[in-house]
Amino acid sequence: MPTLCLPLAAESIERAVELLAAGLPIAVPSETVYGLAANAMESVAVQRIYAAKGRPSDNPLIVHVGDRTQNFADLVAQGLAKPLPAGCAQRSVAERLLKRFWPGPLTLVLPRGPRVPDCVAASLPTVALRMPSHPGFLQLLAKAPFPLAAPSANRSNRISPTSARDVLEELDGRIPLILDGGTCEIGLESTIVSVEADGSVRLLRHGGTPTDEIERTTQAAVVRPAPKSGQMLAPGMGRVHYAPNAPIALVGRGDTEALQTSLRRLGNPGRIGVLLLAGDASCPPAWADTIAGSIRALISLGDQGDGRTASRRLFSELRGLDRLGLDLIVVESPDRLTGELWPALQDRLARAAAATL
Ligand code: TXA
Ligand code: MG
Repeated sequence: MPTLCLPLAAESIERAVELLAAGLPIAVPSETVYGLAANAMESVAVQRIYAAKGRPSDNPLIVHVGDRTQNFADLVAQGLAKPLPAGCAQRSVAERLLKRFWPGPLTLVLPRGPRVPDCVAASLPTVALRMPSHPGFLQLLAKAPFPLAAPSANRSNRISPTSARDVLEELDGRIPLILDGGTCEIGLESTIVSVEADGSVRLLRHGGTPTDEIERTTQAAVVRPAPKSGQMLAPGMGRVHYAPNAPIALVGRGDTEALQTSLRRLGNPGRIGVLLLAGDASCPPAWADTIAGSIRALISLGDQGDGRTASRRLFSELRGLDRLGLDLIVVESPDRLTGELWPALQDRLARAAAATL
C-alpha cells in the first residue's frame, strides 16, 4: 500500500481518524518517539500493528488515552483498568502518579480492565497505559472515539523513530499514513513502571520520566530489577534491541584498551563512525592512534550534562550513521549517570550494543 506522509493539521487528523475507524494503523508523533497507532478496542486493527512491525504477539502494547481520561476512575469507566477499592494502596499510588505525570512520558502498568482485548495485553492480567503530551497526539485522541494502542513505529528490534522520515524508512508501504509532527522532543521512549497490589512501584523500563521524580511523588523508593536476575520485566525489553545494521562498540573516552579489543574482535573494520555524547566533535585523544585514520564520520551529540540533548538526538544520529554503511560505530559510553536522563540513555546504548557482543 502507498504510504502518505502529511503534516499534522486539522485535515490530516481527520483523515487519520477515518483510517483508524476503518481498522488501519497509522503513525503519529509523540513527545517520546513516533508511535504506530490503531484502535485499541479492535483486535483486527491491533493485529495489523503486529503485522506491520513484524512484532511477536507475546509482546504487549501500550494503550494511549486522551485528556478525557484524567484519572483512575475514568480508566475504570472505559473498561481499561480493573476497578480497585477507593483508598487502597495500589489505587492511591496510581492516582498520585497519574495526577503528577500525565500527560507525559510515564507509562503505568495496572490490573487490566475488561474491555482491553487479549492481543493488546498479550493475555497478561495487566495493561500498560499512558497519556502522551504531544498536542497532535492529544488532538488525535480527542477526535477518535476509542483509545489507541501504539508501540514505537519501527520494525521489531530496530531503532525507534524520532521523525516522520525515520518512520518512512521503517514502514514505507506497510501503513497508509504518517502524521508528520517534526522531531520528537524527548527522543527516547516513556518510563514504564508497574504499580503493585501493595502500592510499591516497580521500574520496568527507564525512559523520559526520571525515577527520582517518581520517588519524590510516591515518597517511596522505586523497586529496581535485581541486576542479574535474567528475568524479563517488560516482555519487549529483550537484551538486544534498538540495533542498527552496523556493529556498535561502547567505549569510555579514555579507554584505549577496550577500543583495541573491540576492533580485534570485529576483524579490524575499515570504515568507522564515531558518536560522542558530549563535547567537541573531535576524536578523543585516547582513541586517536587506534582509529583516527579509519574515521568516516564523527558526531557529537553536544549534551549539557543531564542526558537530555543526547537523548533527543541519539536515535536519529545513530540512524544517520547507519545510512553510511559503516563497518563499525564506536559510541562513547556514558559515565555521568547522575543527570536526569543518563540511566535511560545508558540502557538504550547497552541494548543497541548487545547485538554486537
Ligand atoms: O514512549 C513510548 O512508550 C512509546 C510511544 C509511542 O508511546 N511507545 C513504546 O511502545 O515505546 P513499545 O511497544 O515500543 O514499548 C512498550 C513496552 C514493551 O517493552 C512492552 O513489552 C511493554 O511496554 N509492556 C506493554 N504492556 C505491558 C504489561 N502489561 N506489562 C509489562 N510490560 C508491558
Ligand atoms: Mg519499541
